[in-house]
Amino acid sequence: MPEELLARVKELRHLLHKWNHEYHVLDQPSVSDAEYDKALNELVRLEEENPSLQSEDSPSQRVGGAPLSVFEKVEHTTPMLSLGNAFNEEDLRDFDRRVRQGVGNEVSYVAELKIDGLAVSLRYEDGLFIQGATRGDGSVGEDITQNLKTIRSIPLRLSKPVSIEVRGEAFMPKKSFISLNEQKEELGEEPFANPRNAAAGSLRQLDPKLAAKRNLDIYVYGIGNPATTGVNSHSGGLDLLDELGFKTNNERKKCSNIDEVIEFTSSWVEKRPALPYEIDGIVIKVDSFEQQDELGFTAKSPRWAIAYKFPAEEVVTRLVDIELNVGRTGVITPTAILEPVRVAGTVVKRASLHNEDLIREKDIKLGDYVIVKKAGDIIPEVVHVLLEKRTGEEKDFLMPTHCPECNSELVRLDEEVALRCINPECPAQIREGLIHFVSRNAMNIDGLGERVIAQLFQEKLISNVADLYRLQKDQLVAMERMGEKSATNLIEAITTSKKNSLEKLLFGLGIRHVGAKAAKTLAQHFETMEKLQSATIDDLVAINEIGEKMAEAVVTYFHKPEVVHLIDELKALGVNTDYTGPKLVNVEDIDSFFAGKTIVLTGKLEILTRNEAKEKIELLGGKVAGSVSKNTDLLIAGEAAGSKLDQAKKHGVEVWNEERLVLELNK
Ligand code: IVH
Repeated sequence: MPEELLARVKELRHLLHKWNHEYHVLDQPSVSDAEYDKALNELVRLEEENPSLQSEDSPSQRVGGAPLSVFEKVEHTTPMLSLGNAFNEEDLRDFDRRVRQGVGNEVSYVAELKIDGLAVSLRYEDGLFIQGATRGDGSVGEDITQNLKTIRSIPLRLSKPVSIEVRGEAFMPKKSFISLNEQKEELGEEPFANPRNAAAGSLRQLDPKLAAKRNLDIYVYGIGNPATTGVNSHSGGLDLLDELGFKTNNERKKCSNIDEVIEFTSSWVEKRPALPYEIDGIVIKVDSFEQQDELGFTAKSPRWAIAYKFPAEEVVTRLVDIELNVGRTGVITPTAILEPVRVAGTVVKRASLHNEDLIREKDIKLGDYVIVKKAGDIIPEVVHVLLEKRTGEEKDFLMPTHCPECNSELVRLDEEVALRCINPECPAQIREGLIHFVSRNAMNIDGLGERVIAQLFQEKLISNVADLYRLQKDQLVAMERMGEKSATNLIEAITTSKKNSLEKLLFGLGIRHVGAKAAKTLAQHFETMEKLQSATIDDLVAINEIGEKMAEAVVTYFHKPEVVHLIDELKALGVNTDYTGPKLVNVEDIDSFFAGKTIVLTGKLEILTRNEAKEKIELLGGKVAGSVSKNTDLLIAGEAAGSKLDQAKKHGVEVWNEERLVLELNK
């Protein structure tokens, strides 16, 4: 290969990287778009002519490579959690109180904009961008590396050869959203409801060339594995991210108390509309990583951060009708049909009214003018009726006496507000049960949405969950709006779901009172479907988290002959019925000092990180709690331990230093 060619390719890459960073990250372009495009085209051409020169971090990757047939699943090394919400000043002050109770009064916060896009994780090895993924269910997302490479503000190579996982929000700027929708409307296509959906839709395109056209952008806001970076605060982390070449959002403020945080949040209520991208709130994070560690996490979110959500927008519209829906469990839910109205970024046409009592309480009549908002900025809700706008033409709404789908008589079970259809053959219940079975927390079958299930059910291709595993590709291809490719993908997704661990199947079956968490507990304890099927009420209530009501529901369910038959069918079709997650160990079987004890960690640990200490203690059967109480067995006091040490002394709790802990852990 001629030397000059290699040199030219290197030069072009260097220039394009530099121009890209100047334009998309620093917002300080030094060349015209035309000059950039000319260099990029030359590079693409040279790489095409000399395939051996192609490289993962070449700026040519930005134009998007070959289309994929399916996104691979990616397991996140640390879960991508969401945040708890604050809706007003009081919620923020409560958050601050909880934080200070946990770590003392010396706290500073970083307040930053909550970008309204979709969360992504970006992995770099030795400075090279190797994988980007969606959040998915928090534990498993989808590999969208090729699409993310088209976002010019995502560096393909960092300024230092570090291995790091960063998290950020990919989004579509308002301007790009408006012009994309204009284009879509011209083509007679359905426009996107809001920039968030547009960004998500673009990143879920299988063809990266399409994603490349969508003008997406990103702000990164955190590090997945901060312990490995040597920085000790969130603000330090953001500075490091800047230094490595990432785009962080500059509208952030370090606040030394909650008053400053509140001032920051209220200032953005007014400034928000002028931003070139959408935000849905302000994120507040405890700055010190040590304090973050000390505060830890709840099951869903960190205790060291919170999302302040802007007050919900309220609009007026007319309620034209009330529709009735039959759910998976037979509950009849009335839904308001509204004159379409734009609220908080989307057009709202329907809002759940939950039950008859609520309709009476709010005195809702057909034809009323109503105030509508989105609860938590997501779920449309009728706030109240505008009584002053009544004309006398409005009509009372009466709940039906018979199921709108199967016409059997509706009943109100003891003390329930809901009306139910109790016909087990009701088609609506079966259809909704199938939709639940394939949903994310259940069997998680991609490509099988409500529409496809409803269609398959209507065409009698499926009538129970086992039928899903009998579907053949040609049956799918014959369906309306289903291409060859989607059919192949769907069959593949269905087949993949056969391998799911038992808890997903259990949750999917829709046993009364068994939510996703209880399904996991059951799967962990019984490990196989057979053992669970033969469990008695006593066996079940012996488990801490399982109450009488759930135990009864589980036993009743597994004794139904049709359920026994269904499970046999699923097994015969190759569906896994074993638990394949991490093993649960019985505390009594663990021969360790820590087994069954409640331990609190405080102060700065030097040998272990707080998470490591927690994991090791838990592996040995101990429980790590956040605060000292009379139930605490042991306090581990690191450097500069504060109020927790005082409390431990007050309660007469045994106190160890870190060395003693490490010695005992290694025994
Ligand atoms: S921090 C442990 N910072 O909001 C969670 N999130 O529910 C750490 N988001 O899923 C998230 N801007 O997609 C953080 N500056 C920001 C953010 C931000 C937007 C999104 C993110 C996350 C959701 C929180």
